Amino acid sequence: MLIGVPKEVKNHEYRVGLVPGSVRELVTNGHQVMVQRGAGAKIGFEDAAYAHVGATIVETAEEIFKRADMIIKVKEPQAQECKMMRENQILFTYLHLAPDPEQAKLLQDSGCIAIAYETVTDRHGGLPLLAPMSEVAGRMAIQAGASCLEIAKGGSGILIGGVPGVAPAKVVVLGGGVVGTNSVRVAMGMGAQVVVIDKTIQRLYHLDLQFGSKITTIYSTTDAIEEHVLSADLVIGAVLVPGGHAPKLVTKAMLKKMRPGSVMVDVSIDQGGCFETSRPTTHQDPTYVVDGVVHYCVSNMPGGVPRTSTFALNNATLPFILKLANLGYKQAMHEDAHLLNGLNVFKGKVTHKAVADALSQEYIAASSVI
Ligand SMILES: NC(=O)c1ccc[n+]([C@@H]2O[C@H](COP(=O)([O-])OP(=O)(O)OC[C@H]3O[C@@H](n4cnc5c(N)ncnc54)[C@H](O)[C@@H]3O)[C@@H](O)[C@H]2O)c1
Repeated sequence: MLIGVPKEVKNHEYRVGLVPGSVRELVTNGHQVMVQRGAGAKIGFEDAAYAHVGATIVETAEEIFKRADMIIKVKEPQAQECKMMRENQILFTYLHLAPDPEQAKLLQDSGCIAIAYETVTDRHGGLPLLAPMSEVAGRMAIQAGASCLEIAKGGSGILIGGVPGVAPAKVVVLGGGVVGTNSVRVAMGMGAQVVVIDKTIQRLYHLDLQFGSKITTIYSTTDAIEEHVLSADLVIGAVLVPGGHAPKLVTKAMLKKMRPGSVMVDVSIDQGGCFETSRPTTHQDPTYVVDGVVHYCVSNMPGGVPRTSTFALNNATLPFILKLANLGYKQAMHEDAHLLNGLNVFKGKVTHKAVADALSQEYIAASSVI
């Protein structure tokens, strides 16, 4: 199969669909890979590294979209990319189509086969191609929060791990899923006093087993959230209600009673945020202050560490990419129901129920078109 990796075009997006090591795997399996010149240059993957493992370096995205059987990307295709997609061409990337009818229409019009990373499933009911980015964001949340606690950033001037004789910061993590677990791990490693609050007892049970008595697990109620948030130095918002808006767990009234210089990192901001005072920010201007409390609400946190994120994403996507390339999309999806769940658009039809519902379009089961 001829596989194409265009350079990402979204503003400040430096991740890339394939690292050189993944290209090597594909080439070893008998496939050809085209990589657009400079696609990975910003994160240390020079064109020469791709050429060294057998990729062909091409000058333009147009050439890639014109010739490749399968396009591998990171971000959802922008309008100019959608317009280059062709009938029967496979697109494997994050799509996030539910809130994006324009992109959906362009992909439908192209007749392509669009498989979304974010709806591929695993046998534990998880989303294995979303999880790596949650891992990155969860770990980064503590790094960002610790930095915001510095006095020059508007924080209270508390060192997250304290020093001998001086107490560490209290870190409260709301939501103990993938993001939350990774935040807990890093906060604990830095020596913070960690409290994690979740509404699922099973999650708390697993966190308790994993981290033992070094953390405190608390069942989520308004009362418990208020008690712990008011005494926190750093609060991480990491809740998710699948398919819905994040619940506003920290209200404006609660915020007013927090200690000035406390820090809130709202990782859930991509689902609307779980603090009433959250609004999306960017890596260029990541924080703002409300009632003396520093808010960090960057909606694409993994984009800030694109090299790590690209490796993490590739580790998860490569087995599926190999399957698609080795077997062809039909057989690959026949054999793997989890990959089939990734199919969002097939030659004009919307083949994912939640996406079809969100777009108010007719839903055609993926299994009926493959
Ligand atoms: N900002 C970013 O760059 C970025 C990056 C990755 C993920 N995210 C977002 O982070 C959020 C968390 O993702 P995840 O992968 O950890 O999800 P997850 O499903 O693994 O975990 C979410 C947890 O929230 C808990 N929860 C739900 N409602 C709750 C409540 N009322 N009180 C306490 N806990 C509650 C659930 O029980 C679950 O354990 C999502 O919104 C995701 O989109 C953002």
